[in-house]
Amino acid sequence: MKNKLIAASILSANFTCLGKEINDVLKAGANIIHFDVMDNNYVPNLSIGPLVLKSLRENNINCQIDVHIMAKNIDNLIISFIKLGVNSIIIHPESSLHLDKSISLIRKYGCKAGLALNPSTSLNCLDYLIHKLDLILVMSVNPGFEGQKFLDYIYKKIIQIKKIINKQKRNILLEVDGGININNIKKIAISGADVFVIGSAIFKNKLPYNKIIKNLKLESNYFFKK
Ligand code: DX5
Ligand code: ZN
Repeated sequence: MKNKLIAASILSANFTCLGKEINDVLKAGANIIHFDVMDNNYVPNLSIGPLVLKSLRENNINCQIDVHIMAKNIDNLIISFIKLGVNSIIIHPESSLHLDKSISLIRKYGCKAGLALNPSTSLNCLDYLIHKLDLILVMSVNPGFEGQKFLDYIYKKIIQIKKIINKQKRNILLEVDGGININNIKKIAISGADVFVIGSAIFKNKLPYNKIIKNLKLESNYFFKK
């Protein structure tokens, strides 16, 4: 059994020292940096984009970056992020006019492609696309903001998607994003998540990052260690 992974969502980080925050959280044991891109159109909030990542790259932030795009007109953004050497790009089905084309564009340059499903988005959107996906991200809050409460009906959705993934011949990661903390991570892990995207429970926590991440990992791998 593979260890489950923690993706630290920097939306909750201190932006006045973003590079340091990234280095600190990686040193503390986070496996991936999750980079949330919001355009104040697809979601009612505005965050960071390629310019910020370019600056991080120029200042020796060479780690694995997963980009979660919550924006419209995404194909230009996809190309900009690919040029900056990101590992995965995750997009929402509602945000692309030609979803197959956008997913193919991500894969064309060797980047991993992910599809993000909002809480109310049906699993049907996976039907004709799952063979092209490297990961599926289940939103457990409505996208746009950090610090929201995990929606309880999403456990069932995680279980359903895990079953669909298990029927595939390829390895597809199941990520869950939104409202994850020390109190619910075990149940989310048991439901089938491989990767936990976590923002406020890491960056807005009073404990040191290494303690928080150690505890989250212990909880999430609890039943899977042996
Ligand atoms: C929400 C973002 C999430 C968010 C997670 O739209 O996609 O990645 O930053 O933050 P928490 O863990 O605070 O819900
Ligand atoms: Zn996200």
